[in-house]
Amino acid sequence: MQTKKKLISNRIHELIQNTELPQNRVIEAALYSLATPGKYLRPIFTLLTAEMFGANIEDALDPACAIELIHTYSLIHDDLPAMDDDDLRRGKETVHIKFDEATAILAGDFLLTYSFEVIANASHLDSVKKCKLIHTLAKRAGAKGMIGGQMIDSQAAGSNLPEPLLLSMHELKTAALFTAALEFGAIVGGANKNELQQISKFGKDFGISFQIIDDLLDVSVPTEQLGKSHGSDEKKNKPTSVTILGEKRAREMATLLNIQAFSHLNQLDRDTSQLKDLVKTLLNRRF
Ligand code: IPE
Ligand code: IPE
Ligand code: MG
Ligand code: MG
Ligand code: MG
Repeated sequence: MQTKKKLISNRIHELIQNTELPQNRVIEAALYSLATPGKYLRPIFTLLTAEMFGANIEDALDPACAIELIHTYSLIHDDLPAMDDDDLRRGKETVHIKFDEATAILAGDFLLTYSFEVIANASHLDSVKKCKLIHTLAKRAGAKGMIGGQMIDSQAAGSNLPEPLLLSMHELKTAALFTAALEFGAIVGGANKNELQQISKFGKDFGISFQIIDDLLDVSVPTEQLGKSHGSDEKKNKPTSVTILGEKRAREMATLLNIQAFSHLNQLDRDTSQLKDLVKTLLNRRF
């Protein structure tokens, strides 16, 4: 896992470099945000899935980095005053606090657009695979994916979401990008249609469970350990897994969703142990 993280980090910093251009501030802000990496889960999922389908890790590296760039953009925008209004991310000031709001918006926009350029430029991959990757990312990150989920989230503040809508929100705002990361690995590895379907179902169930745990951590882990402000959701009066399901049911549901996620992997005639091991550890994470 450490080797994979190093590969991802090195490649991201090769892809984004400081320039002497007058507009360098936007690159600096993006680099600031990328300098303290998070868990790198999405690119790791891409690499693990690609390997599982027999691909070389180098072939999957640029698509994996592209997903992390989209994720980073989503966090920069998620933290903005107009959204979650958070001033701490990965233990340091959020981009709009360190720089300013306009720079944070533009740095996010830069990472979003650049991720598509990274895929279009990826060596090792043929045009058909690149088109599939671009289509997958656009779909999963768009209005019927992550952006749609963030829209529901934004509108829901101060209200009481019915349980099915809470789970749809999780599916869109969080599971969609995990699903794209996994589908990326499957596409690079040349998975067939059925395999791709099972991978997508796995991504959906795991991703919802991931957001449930994220909501639980918000109320149970102190700021220093979490690297983001404890109680941020409550402060904004957000309906979350904690407020809608209660802590006990939320945890039960996250566990059940992981079991359901594994059932999709069991349909594959592949060695799914690495994916399962990673997912198991995430159920008990503390940040
Ligand atoms: C945080 O994602 C945003 C959610 C979807 C809950 P991560 O917990 O993967 O964040 P980092 O990248 O590791 O900081
Ligand atoms: C974030 O959900 C989802 C996206 C960024 C798309 P949260 O708002 O719960 O993530 P954190 O807790 O700020 O990392
Ligand atoms: Mg949010
Ligand atoms: Mg947030
Ligand atoms: Mg959260």
